[in-house]
Amino acid sequence: MKIAIASDHGGYEMKEAIKQHYQECDILDLGTDSTDSVDYPDFAKKMALTLFTKKADLGILICGTGVGISIAANRYKGIRAALIYSTEVAKLAKQHNNANVLVFGGRTMAVDDVINSIDTFMQSEYEGGRHQRRLDKIEDTEL
Ligand code: RB5
Repeated sequence: MKIAIASDHGGYEMKEAIKQHYQECDILDLGTDSTDSVDYPDFAKKMALTLFTKKADLGILICGTGVGISIAANRYKGIRAALIYSTEVAKLAKQHNNANVLVFGGRTMAVDDVINSIDTFMQSEYEGGRHQRRLDKIEDTEL
């Protein structure tokens, strides 16, 4: 599985810590590249394009709280970005939501908790069934 990662300045240090932890894996880094102020919607867009063009199968996004970049990412069709705040939520984000982007708050979460959540998500399986019906309804939404 190919993983892409991106953050704004509020998530930069967490992004680097995640990359460091998974240095054996080939993670595609979409930026940002420093703690200089940037706009999180630009990195949500880069992630959406990366997943849409199948350059990665799973995305990890980080901003200060995870809220802004979640809102931005979920505007794109096919993106199911889940703001993760515990290992239980990480497990359910796979089992029930088949999330394809994990979102974390760089200023609100500890690195160890983020790593444990990523590991838990990766070890979990999507359950399909009634959950697929609900995901289909999300994809069908047009207003
Ligand atoms: C940037 O200062 C901050 O607003 C951003 O990282 C994020 O927390 C927004 O939701």
